[in-house]
Amino acid sequence: MARSATKAKPTSEKKPIERVEHEGLLDVRNLTTYFKLGVGDVKAVQDVSFTLQRGESLGLAGESGCGKTTAALSLLKLLPENGRIVSGDILFDGRNLAKRTEYGMSKIRWKEISIIFQGAMNALNPVKETGKQVAEPIQLHEGLSEKQAMVRVRELYDLVGINPKRVMDFPHQLSGGMRQRAMIAMSLACNPKLVIGDEPTTALDVMVQAQILELIARLRKELDLSFILISHDLSVMAETCDKGVVMYAGEVVESGTTTDIFNHATHPYTRQLIKAFPNIHEKREMVSSIKGDPPNLISPPAGCAFCPRCDERIASCETEHPGLTEVERGHFVRCVHAKARTMDGFVPGDEAAPDQEGV
Ligand SMILES: Nc1ncnc2c1ncn2[C@@H]1O[C@H](COP(=O)(O)OP(=O)(O)OP(=O)(O)O)[C@@H](O)[C@H]1O
Ligand SMILES: [Mg+2]
Repeated sequence: MARSATKAKPTSEKKPIERVEHEGLLDVRNLTTYFKLGVGDVKAVQDVSFTLQRGESLGLAGESGCGKTTAALSLLKLLPENGRIVSGDILFDGRNLAKRTEYGMSKIRWKEISIIFQGAMNALNPVKETGKQVAEPIQLHEGLSEKQAMVRVRELYDLVGINPKRVMDFPHQLSGGMRQRAMIAMSLACNPKLVIGDEPTTALDVMVQAQILELIARLRKELDLSFILISHDLSVMAETCDKGVVMYAGEVVESGTTTDIFNHATHPYTRQLIKAFPNIHEKREMVSSIKGDPPNLISPPAGCAFCPRCDERIASCETEHPGLTEVERGHFVRCVHAKARTMDGFVPGDEAAPDQEGV
């Protein structure tokens, strides 16, 4: 029988994946993530937005429990069982990760976005050679044998400043700094476009911390990497990042370039956070801690979440929840006083204003 020229295409043919238009490499829009507990939902991340360009670095800062790790784990959809993304979009290189299936995410993790998990350098398997542990994602995602993967691990050790001969060392044979370098090597194993470092320097002494931050800065340049650096210490963000997001009680309270945040810190919380950490470049001063505790995220306050701890609160702070105000181009602040502190001459909406909140 003659073949018909108009024969229908086989149904197995894959539909091309539609690419989503968005800004930069990563465009997080109104991300909201909750954890379910018996007593209610923990509102760990609320309406968080930010963008990241290729090759750019962004710092995510704030006190313990403010939602930094939850935001990072949401991006990779690696939340614990009781966690869920309630709403928002995670637009990454033309795809919306918030809507992606588990199978779809498995193609993104390590190969396109990798993460240095909080505390991972102290969670290495003590009875397995570090190099073999670094090789695991390469074997898994590139389908290589252990022998083939170890060739790449030696290159990676060299790249991050560990003698490649030390691939067979066990974790206890490496210093803290070297173990963190090995974790950085693991994050780079499959050539991702974006690396997330969750407190990568927190457990290290100041000298080693500086070396690791230098290494990250060098790798970013050499590999044209985008980087999200999570830290509770704003000075770490200042040293390493192009821009920053300060979180408090699951929300963005201030965002902008690191220069905006440090030279024109506007939210009372950001200003207190800056004071709370010593700056190695400036004269020694008494380091202050922020009085009081962050709110319960199961039933956060109706008004400003920082209000009970804020020296500048006014009556309306207790009842009115402030939105983000743009105080200078690209610099957003969630505070009732923000409008009054708008930088000299800047009138929001005067130029082509961004159509969403966040950086
Ligand atoms: N599995 C979970 N179930 C319930 N609540 C959780 C869970 N994981 C985290 N939380 C809560 O969510 C909030 C945000 O936690 P998260 O770990 O994201 O904070 P963080 O900013 O990374 O803090 P840290 O600086 O201590 O690492 C906290 O109140 C925390 O107690
Ligand atoms: Mg954390």
